[in-house]
Amino acid sequence: MRPLLPLLLAACAFAAPTAPKKKPEPAKPLTPAQKADYAKVIQPIFDAHCVSCHGPKKEKGKLRLDTLEATLKGGKNPTFVIGKPNSSMLLARVFLDRTAGDVMPPKAEKPLTEKQKEAIYAFIEGQPIPDELAKAAVADTKAKK
Ligand code: HEC
Repeated sequence: MRPLLPLLLAACAFAAPTAPKKKPEPAKPLTPAQKADYAKVIQPIFDAHCVSCHGPKKEKGKLRLDTLEATLKGGKNPTFVIGKPNSSMLLARVFLDRTAGDVMPPKAEKPLTEKQKEAIYAFIEGQPIPDELAKAAVADTKAKK
């Protein structure tokens, strides 16, 4: 018997169309409401607590947080992925326990308040920041707590 069948099967497997590789979904452009939330609530938090190390003067971790574009671009790792809190390194670092070596801002700096963290979380989830929370976070930022 000639081993025709195995050959045929192998040929078929070879010719079978391979599943198309999943391309990463292109990031959705932010809505005007999201841009407004960013400008009003999120950027001021970064300006007060992060930009000294993640801005035009220093770019620690190859990350800048001084503009929306830079923030969305991220650093060495996907830093800030709207709609994907679990892929957003920034959230992981901000929500670490204050005793963790990797916590941001670093241990020696003033920590973010719960309201500021919650506002960043809501924004990265892709939710509108609820009014009460936005107000509380902005007040904390102004108080430079
Ligand atoms: C005193 C300086 C300093 C401040 C202030 C600071 N960082 Fe950092 N940050 C660093 C350094 C240094 C690194 C790089 C080493 C590392 O990853 O720990 C870093 C890395 C990071 C990274 C990882 C970047 C990557 O892609 O690997 C994130 C995210 C981050 N910082 C977020 C923040 C946020 C958000 C704030 C403000 C709430 C902040 N940092 C404030 C010094 C700082």
